Order: sequence, then C-alpha cells, then structure tokens
Amino acid sequence: MARRVSKRKMPDRDDFRVNERWKIEEGVFDRKTMMNLEKVFTHKIVSEMIHIISRGKEADVYLARSGEKVDAEYVVLKIFNQENTSFKRRTEYVKGDPRFDGIKTDIRSIIRIWCRKEYGNLKIAKEAQVSAPEPYYFNGNVLAMQFIGEDDRPAKILKNIELDNPEKVLDEIIENMKRLYSANLVHGDISEYNILIKDNIPFVIDIGQGVSLGHPKANDFLERDVKNILHYFKKRYGVDMEQEQVVSEIKS
Ligand SMILES: Nc1ncnc2c1ncn2[C@@H]1O[C@H](COP(=O)(O)OP(=O)(O)O)[C@@H](O)[C@H]1O
Ligand SMILES: [Mg+2]
Repeated sequence: MARRVSKRKMPDRDDFRVNERWKIEEGVFDRKTMMNLEKVFTHKIVSEMIHIISRGKEADVYLARSGEKVDAEYVVLKIFNQENTSFKRRTEYVKGDPRFDGIKTDIRSIIRIWCRKEYGNLKIAKEAQVSAPEPYYFNGNVLAMQFIGEDDRPAKILKNIELDNPEKVLDEIIENMKRLYSANLVHGDISEYNILIKDNIPFVIDIGQGVSLGHPKANDFLERDVKNILHYFKKRYGVDMEQEQVVSEIKS
C-alpha cells in the first residue's frame, strides 16, 4: 500500500528541472526564488549561472552567462534575500516616496517593491546618461543587469582601487549625481562601496534606495551622499572640495 506523503515533503519536479537545466546546486535558493529565476531563463536574459560575485546582507550578486535577448556575454543577477528582516528598516525609503503610495508593507512585498525600485531607478539613471549598469529585467526578487567588468572579472569597488586621477573620478561622480538629480532622483547610498571603477571610469551601483525629489528626506539623503564621498576623497587622496558648493552644483 502506498504511503501517504504530505504534499510539502514531496520532491518538487519544477525545482529539480530548474536545478538541472541551469546547473544550480540543490537548496541554494528557496522555492519562490527558483520560480522567479526560471522566468529570467525562459525570457532568454540568462542561459547559465556561473558563480557568486558577492554575498550581501540583503542580496547576493551572481555572474551569469547571457541569453539570446542580451547583447553581451555576461549578465549580473542580483537576488534579494526573501528571509531578510533588515528590509524592515528600509520601509522608510519606500513609504515616503510618492511613487509608492498605498503599498503593502510585509517583508515579501517590500522586497518585491525594492527589486522593482532598483530596476526603475537604474532605468531612470540610464536614460539620464548616468554611468550605471543597464537594467535588463526583473521578476519578484530577481534583478538582471549589465555586468560591469573585464572578461569575467567584475570591476573593483572604489575602495579597493588606487586611483591615478582622483580629481577627475570625483568630478565624474559628482556629474553623475547631478544627472540623477536632474532626473528627479537622489541615490541615497553613495559611498566607496557602491561605485565600481572600470578603466578609470566610475559606475554607480546599488541604487535600490534611491528616492525621488518628492521624498521628504531627499535633501538630507543628497547632503549625506555628498558628505560621504567628499570625506572619502579627502581622507584617501587629499582632494578637498566644499560640501555646500558641491550640493548647490548638483542642484543647479
Ligand atoms: N553590475 C555589476 N557588475 C559587476 N559587479 C557588480 C554589479 N553589481 C554589483 N556588483 C558586485 O556586487 C557587489 C554587491 O552589489 P550591491 O548592488 O552593492 O549590493 P549590496 O551592497 O546590497 O550587497 C558590489 O560591490 C560589486 O562588487
Ligand atoms: Mg552595495
């Protein structure tokens, strides 16, 4: 007589299929993430997972081989951690933004919105000619974007590189902040960790917390961004710029 097996314990054929096809090790992703990932493959954005680039508190970043729809060799997948409770404190960024009025604020919904928000912010950045990864696609907690790097090596973060031309790079970072501002956005987490350097050119990443200028704290976030980046360039390279002057330059 066949034993009854509860549905929850039955091996999941879909999970197995995705694991096999995309060479993802069993148990790396939860079921919902697997389902979201499946779409990234069926939409031909990605054809194979390669390896992890970064493991973060809120998201893991993977290098993947691109699918037919992407005109590049590699794609970056940022996969937001569904179980992450530190997202709770992030509701502040979403709630005050007029673009997200009347939304649900449970963790899963916040993460979905966060992912969509990073996609949307990257899209705005790209349109405003900000040097940032081009967003390709998002679904649930999975975001696909342009890989910034050389061959399969990701570009280094600003902190881990010794610049030959710090003044020029700082000017470009400020120019990017200005373009973002003209496109109605403040990054909100500009630092030596969220800027990649490729061929001496800065790329702004990690823009999920970016808020529109209608956000009540947009101005505080902008001032904090400027303060952080100027502090870094002063400490490491002795480049000295006036905070208030830079803020008004960005707003002009
Ligand atoms: N588009 C990209 N191309 C290359 N590397 C990336 C890209 N996006 C993120 N990374 C790498 O992944 C790390 C974490 O990404 P980030 O978006 O800053 O997420 P978080 O800080 O929330 O973990 C970055 O420091 C960088 O090394
Ligand atoms: Mg980051």
